[in-house]
Amino acid sequence: MATKLTLIDKAIVGFDSSLRAIIPHSNPSTRPLPVSSESLPQLSINESRHVAGLMRINHTGEVCAQGLYHGQALTAKNPHVKHAMQHSADEEIDHLVWCETRLDELGSHPSVFTPVWYGLSFGLGAIAGLISDEFSLGFVAETEAQVSEHLEDHIAQLPEQDNRSKEILAQMNIEELEHRQAALDYGGKALSTPVRLSMRWMANQMKAVAYHF
Ligand SMILES: [Fe+2]
Ligand SMILES: [Fe+2]
Repeated sequence: MATKLTLIDKAIVGFDSSLRAIIPHSNPSTRPLPVSSESLPQLSINESRHVAGLMRINHTGEVCAQGLYHGQALTAKNPHVKHAMQHSADEEIDHLVWCETRLDELGSHPSVFTPVWYGLSFGLGAIAGLISDEFSLGFVAETEAQVSEHLEDHIAQLPEQDNRSKEILAQMNIEELEHRQAALDYGGKALSTPVRLSMRWMANQMKAVAYHF
């Protein structure tokens, strides 16, 4: 028999999810890395540094996705919307772990500003949910579309021999586009140009910082 969660139970579950999003290696086992070979590509120091910068950006994007989905779930009005977005949120945890794993392999680390990225995204998700489910889902759809653009750009920038990173990002890209479609299918509406441009501006600031720190 399913147990009904009290408000305090929900707060504890929410707090636990937030901590898992910002503390590396705190998520449970996930789908394996979507790679066709276990051997690590040979990279020069400069190549390795560049790939780590790109993967740190992608990891930050996944932290933001967690924040966005958690914030949205807090304020979404329609329980069906919450439930439908849960599947996307679960896949984002896999993306987070894949990026963490690749950063480990490169001897690097996630952004030191991870809690800040999470908090900002959580706030934006919660505000979007307060406005309306249609706006909130439109926000998710636009975010996923912009993430897909970044992933395609990063795949093009990766060293030729780094198929490992390419395969990870390619699988993430497939799923981001599915998340976008799911948000649209549940009623997400197109955002205005100023909102879309503001989101793009914020994403570029985040990328510039996360690449280095
Ligand atoms: Fe993702
Ligand atoms: Fe996604």
